[in-house]
Amino acid sequence: MARRAPDADAELPALYAHVHPGLESVAADEITRDLQGEIKRTERGVVVFRLRSIDPDVLKLRTTEDIYLLAWGTGSLTYKANDLEQIKKWTANKPDWPQLFRIHHSIRPKVKGKPTFHLVAQMTGEHGYRRVDALDAMADGLHGIVPVGWVPAEENAWLEIWMTITGKTAVSGLRLSDRTMRHRTYKTDHVAASLRPTVAASMVRLAGIAPGMTVLDPLCGAGTILAEAIALCEQRRMRDVKYLGGDIDPNAVFCTKENLGNRGGAVVERWDAMELPLSGESVDRIICNPPFGKQLLKPEQIPDLYVDLAKEWDRVLKPGGRAVILVAEQDDLRAAVKPFEWKATRELKVRILGQAAVMSVWQKPEGYGSMPVSLDE
Ligand SMILES: C[S@@+](CC[C@H](N)C(=O)[O-])C[C@H]1O[C@@H](n2cnc3c(N)ncnc32)[C@H](O)[C@@H]1O
Repeated sequence: MARRAPDADAELPALYAHVHPGLESVAADEITRDLQGEIKRTERGVVVFRLRSIDPDVLKLRTTEDIYLLAWGTGSLTYKANDLEQIKKWTANKPDWPQLFRIHHSIRPKVKGKPTFHLVAQMTGEHGYRRVDALDAMADGLHGIVPVGWVPAEENAWLEIWMTITGKTAVSGLRLSDRTMRHRTYKTDHVAASLRPTVAASMVRLAGIAPGMTVLDPLCGAGTILAEAIALCEQRRMRDVKYLGGDIDPNAVFCTKENLGNRGGAVVERWDAMELPLSGESVDRIICNPPFGKQLLKPEQIPDLYVDLAKEWDRVLKPGGRAVILVAEQDDLRAAVKPFEWKATRELKVRILGQAAVMSVWQKPEGYGSMPVSLDE
């Protein structure tokens, strides 16, 4: 589809993405680089942006949980009941609904039978009204806007109008994505503590994979990280990347193989990540999330576990290589990699399965391997 001139932007509505909290900057980077979008505003869990043209390409984003056409947004809710009157007015008057519906239908074509719709309100924070009151206010505002023939549906509605209230901020819009953006289609087999695909996709982006590289997930679980690495490289038409993964649990190895199929020619084995069957300095990128303390029978084992894992990571990682690691016990991870002088270049605070965690990017020093050696010395 032809790109529109920047001056045409004003005609198009903005969009917003729901994002795993803490990963807004990674999603903003994907929107900017891959879709040439312009970021307008970032709130916890939400990225508002504009595109020069709105087409199905927006659904190819991998670090976002859902994408919406923005109907209206505010950062000035009062927490008082007066907000309800405002919600009704904003819904009724602010958006150009016919335009929003047109764009929605161009991306989510009408299905057979009577069109169905669903209204959704989410609310976090203490407000002087209930979530259902806010939903009713939105429904009142939509009176006469949703065509009479459309049928309300609780599940699998063709058109969804959302409103998300977080403290004094609210955004409302038409959902463009469906559940496959969040859950993907490849993830048919699961293991406990498996990552959300959007979180794995964020780790993969932070890894900066380039052609010719070897990428390793030594604790691969259900293979989410490898699947996202393969997907990103396929999107970028990088064919000569090698993917290696393994897990100590045979069921996890089975799940990874099922989830990956033949994609990327990934090599997946059962192994102990403390003794990898790999040569020294043979991989360019390590991307993984080792077990968190609460996943172990004895959480006090974490420092020793990370020390043993880090030794093996440093052995197999090439000088100048990079690791992206997600853990809850970041201090223990820092202590474990300290002897190898890895440098942390980025740390993002996230919540995984309700627990505070840190996604960090580490650079292994270049070392002496690339320095010229004089035989006279
Ligand atoms: C948090 S899960 C990884 C989840 C994975 N990233 C996903 O998205 O499915 C940690 C994994 O480490 C594996 N593991 C624990 N100790 C290991 C070891 N010594 N060697 C290899 N894998 C190990 C567990 O079996 C588990 O699958």
